[in-house]
Amino acid sequence: MSGRLFVVGTGPGAPGQMTPEAREAISAATHLFGYKPYLDRLDLRADQQAVASDNREELARAGAALDMAAEGETAAMVSGGDAGVFAMAAAVCEAIDKGPAAWREVELIVVPGVTAMLAVAARVGAPLGNDFCAISLSDNLKPWDVIEKRLRLAAEAGFAIALYNPISKARPHQLGEAFNILRAVLPMEIPVVFGRAAGRPDERITMTTLDGARPEMADMATCIIIGNVHTRIVERGERPALLYTPRSVPAHG
Ligand SMILES: C[S@@+](CC[C@H](N)C(=O)[O-])C[C@H]1O[C@@H](n2cnc3c(N)ncnc32)[C@H](O)[C@@H]1O
Repeated sequence: MSGRLFVVGTGPGAPGQMTPEAREAISAATHLFGYKPYLDRLDLRADQQAVASDNREELARAGAALDMAAEGETAAMVSGGDAGVFAMAAAVCEAIDKGPAAWREVELIVVPGVTAMLAVAARVGAPLGNDFCAISLSDNLKPWDVIEKRLRLAAEAGFAIALYNPISKARPHQLGEAFNILRAVLPMEIPVVFGRAAGRPDERITMTTLDGARPEMADMATCIIIGNVHTRIVERGERPALLYTPRSVPAHG
């Protein structure tokens, strides 16, 4: 008989930001699959087995977890943040779509989590308080010209924008190019937040403007939020400034 596969988002890193449902799923699993840094954050029992893999081998990792579940085990595929946001839930669905019939019989339970942009937004106020979009700058799985087009159109449409996977050693130049695309459309004073390792001990949150945004302010653990023309900064003396995008949009806004 087929078993179960949980696809679990464990949140951005703070233990309190992992949902009770995610904790239950992890506790129920006998075999836990995922990228090693995510598995290392879990406090597994001796009777649970971690199966770590390379971050680039998504479909192979999904297949291995589905094989385990198809044999009758309870497996979990673990992602940081939310498993459906630039993470393993889509890879597992794609593996089921394209893989052997036995994988369709597996009970699949996708457990949501707190995604990085929500953790970063909460640190500064409510920059995603109105319409927004999320764009990954990684061109491992999509062409760079598609990313450029989406950045330009999202800025023209007035969305606040959350950038995931902003920079890596293999992709050092793209974030600067992304800022230049946004500067061609948006005013220079638009607020920008660099949220690094939100919820972890090494968290660093930096607020600047589009004019002041520099690629070296980000690393692989950073989610960047770019406001829109309505996003406001509220100075509060001793307390950190607040950033918010109002719930209302003026006519022709
Ligand atoms: C492969 S994506 C995974 C996103 C994850 N599934 C989520 O929902 O947050 C990795 C990117 O997520 C962002 N990220 C993940 N955890 C973060 C955190 N704690 N603080 C800021 N950004 C984070 C960074 O942009 C990083 O490059």
